[in-house]
Order: sequence, then structure tokens, then C-alpha cells
Amino acid sequence: MVNDKVVLAYSGGLDTSMMVKWLQLEYKMDVVTVNLDVGQGKERKGIEEKAWKLGVVNHYTFDAKEEFATGYIFPAIKANALYMGTYPVSSSLSRPLIASKVVEVAEMEDAKAVAHGCTGKGNDQVRFDLTFKALNPKLKIIAPVREWKFNRKGQIQWAKDHDVPVPVTADSPYSIDENLWGRSIEGGLLEHPDKMVPGDIWDWTVDVENAPDEPDYVKIGFQKGLPTSLDGIPYKPVEIIQKLKQLGGKHGIGRIEHMEDRVVGLKTRETYEIPAAEVILNAHQDLEKMVLTRHQKAFKYQVDQMWATVVYQGLWVDPFKQNLDAFIDSTQENVTGSVTMKLFKGSAKPVSRESPFSLYDYNLASFDINTHYDQGDAVGFINLWGLPSVSAWNLKRTVAEEGIREMGKKVVPVPTGAS
Ligand code: ARG
Repeated sequence: MVNDKVVLAYSGGLDTSMMVKWLQLEYKMDVVTVNLDVGQGKERKGIEEKAWKLGVVNHYTFDAKEEFATGYIFPAIKANALYMGTYPVSSSLSRPLIASKVVEVAEMEDAKAVAHGCTGKGNDQVRFDLTFKALNPKLKIIAPVREWKFNRKGQIQWAKDHDVPVPVTADSPYSIDENLWGRSIEGGLLEHPDKMVPGDIWDWTVDVENAPDEPDYVKIGFQKGLPTSLDGIPYKPVEIIQKLKQLGGKHGIGRIEHMEDRVVGLKTRETYEIPAAEVILNAHQDLEKMVLTRHQKAFKYQVDQMWATVVYQGLWVDPFKQNLDAFIDSTQENVTGSVTMKLFKGSAKPVSRESPFSLYDYNLASFDINTHYDQGDAVGFINLWGLPSVSAWNLKRTVAEEGIREMGKKVVPVPTGAS
């Protein structure tokens, strides 16, 4: 009798390596592993080899960097996506992509189940499960961490007992997730928000104290809301992100630590390194301020916040997300131009900008020039603009003088305090 197949999202780490054996032993299934390069930036040669050694019946490696950049990070740039105003949803973005590849492979392999390495306490399980269910509800979902009751020590023992290679760094207390857009560090000492973040968690960015004493200036070119060039030289999406990650990291830009509300209801303390996101989002927002009208910008701000929340909460596949995308896309038509960023001592600030679609008009704005803007018009404008506020103040004064009013008639005289 042939075993049923299960397709596992495989990172090559200890947890998902154990899972290969676990699925074979506990579920009596043949395991197919899928690994995606979403720009983790680490050596990934050994991953496939490791999978074969664990006895998988097939393994797939996808270089998904380009797809991740254009299909996932780019929409997040257009949406200025920052969950709770802070976190650029880097891990949140990669999960629906990984899940969709797992489903693709499951269908090719005629598998009965899919599996992932997420815990039952996190957001990632929501993003995986929900994407699996939406794309192919027939696939059974197995999440071994939600079932096994190991503590860290017991887990490592089980791995050793079952010939799962345990990396020397297995005692690292941190859970790390990396991709092109950011690096998330969780666990260990970080679970005590009353304690400062230990210095050893950072990898992509230098301490501000050690950042160069000279700033770098970089001019980011945008076409319809998307970064396309640096200092006038065109680059591919992945290259732009990688270059700004490197340059931002050199200046200690993009370190984040904050309290976060997870989808599953609990609060956690989260830390991230997001140098490229910080530089690009600051530049993009700045350009939008120049080319969008006041109302476009104000409404988009709310849509942007909603977009980040929906994506964080695992609803990438929800039609609502597409509705938001449609609005956001329609605002990006004129977001073309360039923004020069100053990178210095942990900060990425826009210092100048230009656009063929700029709504800024020097002749209108300058104090030095009198053109068709008639300063006399301002008087009448202020009369009407201020009418509601002035009326309210007038009423307030009358009431204070004459007493409380009820449905048009005076009832109780207000004591003046004189007697
Ligand atoms: N809190 C972040 C998020 O929910 C980071 C998750 C990181 N995932 C991980 N498996 N370490 O998006």
C-alpha cells in the first residue's frame, strides 16, 4: 500500500526538520518538502540535501525573491504598510506566498495534506491555514507544533533520538524569521518587555553609536508608486531593496521594538530590523505628500492602515484586501518622481523631492510673488470657513449671559454669582 503524501513548508531549521520525521512516524505519510528563497540572505545550499537525508520523497526549491518583491512587497510600499504604525508586515507578507507554493506543489504531487511549522500562539499559523483553506479546502492541514507537547530540551532529545541533525546553535533562544523586507527576532529574553533588548539580537544593522559620522544621500526614483532607480541608475526590484537594506543597515536605520497585538488575541514584545523598508516607505510617503490632493492623502492614510491590519491578520486572500488594493492603485498614478534621502545615525529622512506631477506651485506658495492668488480672497474664505466655530462661541457667550436654554425658551436663569 502506498502512503498518502503531505507537503511541508520546510525551512531547513530544527523544527521543520523534526517535522519530516514526525510526519513519517506519527502520520505514516510520505513527506514532500518545499523551500522558498524570499531573500533570507543566508546560505541555503544545505537545505535540500538535509531534506533528502531525512527521507523525503521529493523536494522543491523556489527562488521566489522576484515574485516576493513585485507581488507582495511592492503592494505594501504603495500602501505605506505599517501595522500599528510601526511594523512593515515583513513576515506577514511572505506567508501567503509560501502557502500558495505549498498548495501548488500539493496539487502537482496529488498530496492529501499540507503542513507547516508554526506554533499555535502566533500569527503565522493563521496566515498559512487561511491561505491553504482558501486555495484548496480539500487539503488536510497538519501543524505538528500545535500537537506536540515538547519543551525545548525534550524536543532536542527527540531530534537526537531520531537522527535529526541538531545545529550547534540550537540553544539560541531566539526565533528568527528573515526575508527581503525585514528580519524578525522573538523569544528568549525578548519576552520580558520590562527588560532592554540585548545587543546580540541585531544582525542587519549597526548600533547607532557605531554608525558612520558622515551621512549618505541617496536619490530614490519612483514610477507610479514603486521604486525603480537609485541616484538615477535603474535597478530591478530585488536589487533596490537589497542595496537599501545594506546602506540603511550601515547607518543603523530600521531597528524596531514595540508591543504588538497578535491576531490570536495576545500581546507580545516584537523586535525587527527593517532598514530597506524604513528608507523606502519614508521616501514614498514624502512623494505622496507632494502629488496627492489633501483629501486623497487623508483618506488613503486610513485605507493604508486598514491594508496593513488586514495583511497582518492573515487575510491576504480576502476580497476585501483586493478592494483596498484597487483604491490604493488608483492613487498611485501620479506617484512618480524622486526623493533624496539623508541616511545618518539611525534615521532616514527625506531632504528634497521633485515630481512631474507635483501639486506644489512655487508661484502660489511663495511669499515673494503676487500672482493669481489674491490675498484679499482669504478674508471672505476665513469668514465662511470659521462660521461654525464663531457661531458656537457666540452661543456659548449668550448662554452664559442669559441662562440655560431649552427648546427655544429660557427656563432657569443662570446665577451670575453676584448675589
Ligand atoms: N510578529 C511578526 C508577525 O506576526 C513576526 C512573526 C515572525 N515569525 C516567526 N516565525 N518567527 O508578522
